[in-house]
Amino acid sequence: MKNEQYIMAIDEGTTSARVMLFDQQGAPVGKAQRKINQSYPHPGWVEQDPIEIWNTAETLVSEVLFQTETPPYKVRSIGITNQRETTIVWDRLTGKPIYPAIVWQSKQTAEIAKHWQQPEFANLIQQKTGLLVDAYFSATKIQWILQQVPGAQSRAEQGELLFGTIDTWLLWKLTNGQVHATDYTNASRTMLYNIQQKAWDPELLDLFQIPAAMLPKVYPSGHLYGYTQDFTLMGVQIPIAALAGDQQASLFGQLALQPGMAKNTYGTGAFIMMNLGKQWRLSNHGLLTTLTCSLDDDEVGYAFEGSIFSAGSAIEWLHRQLKILTDPAKSAEIAAASHKSTDLYLVPAFNGLGAPYWDQRAQASFLGLTAHTNHSQMVAATIESLAFQTRAVLDTMAQETGLTLQSLVVDGGVSQNDYLLQFQADLLGKPIKRAPLSETTALGTAYLAGLTVGYWRDLAALRSQQPAGKVFTPQMTVADREHRYAGWQAAVTATQKFKD
Ligand code: G3P
Repeated sequence: MKNEQYIMAIDEGTTSARVMLFDQQGAPVGKAQRKINQSYPHPGWVEQDPIEIWNTAETLVSEVLFQTETPPYKVRSIGITNQRETTIVWDRLTGKPIYPAIVWQSKQTAEIAKHWQQPEFANLIQQKTGLLVDAYFSATKIQWILQQVPGAQSRAEQGELLFGTIDTWLLWKLTNGQVHATDYTNASRTMLYNIQQKAWDPELLDLFQIPAAMLPKVYPSGHLYGYTQDFTLMGVQIPIAALAGDQQASLFGQLALQPGMAKNTYGTGAFIMMNLGKQWRLSNHGLLTTLTCSLDDDEVGYAFEGSIFSAGSAIEWLHRQLKILTDPAKSAEIAAASHKSTDLYLVPAFNGLGAPYWDQRAQASFLGLTAHTNHSQMVAATIESLAFQTRAVLDTMAQETGLTLQSLVVDGGVSQNDYLLQFQADLLGKPIKRAPLSETTALGTAYLAGLTVGYWRDLAALRSQQPAGKVFTPQMTVADREHRYAGWQAAVTATQKFKD
C-alpha cells in the first residue's frame, strides 16, 4: 500500500456488517464483511445480539487493517453507518444490554403501535416527527423493553439505563463508554425527535413514558464525536468523525444533495429517498419526512422517504426457506430464463407492507400460480416485486412534490442484479443509473468522516472524482408496462384483504 492515509467506514447493516477503507480518490482499498445472525423467537419478531454486533465490528476492523497491511495510525478518521431504528437498551455502568436488539423489521410491538395509530396521536406524531406510526420505529420498541423487562421502567427513570440505535451502541463501545451520542438522521427515526425544532420532544417522551436521561445527545452526521479507546488499534486514538443512518448516508454518497434528487438502495429492504432541501413538508400518501446528513447544524435538511420492508430479504427467503434458489447471486440469470411470460406476482409482505401502503397486518402471498408455474418464474416474480414496490413509491413522490424524476440512481448489494435493474427501467419508463460502487452507504459515511477532519477539502472535490456507472434504459412497451403494474396493484389489494 502507498504511504497515505485512509478513511474507515463501519457499515453495520441488518444482515451483514462490513468495514471498508477509502483512499483520497474515494476508491475502496480494503473491505472485510461478515453476516450478522437474526433470531425469530416468535412469528413476526426479529431480534439480534448486541454483543455479536459489537464483536463483529471489532473483528472486521482488525481484518481490514490486516488484509491491507494498514497500521492504525494511517486511519485518519472513522465513520459509522447503520441499519436504523433497531433498538438497544443497556446498563450505563456494566454496559450489558438488558434485552436483545429489537430489529427495525420486528413486529412484536404492533399492538402498542396500534394504540398510537388512533388519529389524535397519529396526527400529533406525524406533525412532530414526520413519521407514520408503526412498529418499525424505535419508540414502541423502547416502550416494549421498559414494560417487559422486570424493573426496567424504574431503572430507566433513575438514569441507570441508556438507549441507542446501532450507531450509538458502536460509538459507545468504541469510546469505551465515554460518548453517548447519535446524529440527526438516526434521531429522526426514533419517533421521539421533533424534526422541526431539532430536539427530543418532551410531549412524546411523556406519551411513550421514555425518560429523557436514556437518550443520546444529537449532532450533525459529520461531527467529531470522540476517539477510539482501549480497542484493537494498538492504543491509537482515531477520531470518530461521522455517524449516519444508512439510507441518508447513501443519499450523501450519491451526492444527491439538491432538492428533487432521488436514490433507491436495494438491500435487505429498499429505501427510496428524495431530497427536499431545507423545505419541511409532510406527506398525505404514506411517505415519511426525515432528516438528511450535513456537516453542521444549520445545514440539516429534509427528505421524503419510501421505506420498503422486503427487498433482498425476499430473495433470501427463496434461498433459505423455499429452497428453490441455491445461490442468490444466480437469481438474475434464473429469472431471465423465465422469459417474463407470466402474470405471476409475489407481494412480499413478510413484515407487513411499508410505503406507500403501511399495512402492518398484511401477509405475503403469491398470486397467479398455475399448474405450469416453475421455479424460475417464482424467482422472476420475487425480483419484480422490488421494482413494483419502488414504482408505487416513486409515483407517490411525483404526485406529492409535482417533480418528475428524469432518472433514478440506485445502489446497495441487490443493485448488482441486472434483471432487477432492467425490469425497474422498463416499469418506470426511465433510465436507471447504477452507482459504480454498490457500497454507496459506506462511501457516504466515509465522505462525511473525511470532510469533517479535512481529508477532503469540500464537496466539489468529491464531485470531480465520482466515476459514472452503468445505465439501464427502458425497453418494454407502454401497454405491457401498464398491464404488469395493474396486475401488481390487483395483487396488493387481494393480499390486503386476506388478514388473520
Ligand atoms: O430503516 C432500516 C434500514 O436502515 C435498513 O437498511 O440496508 O439493512 O436493509 P438495510
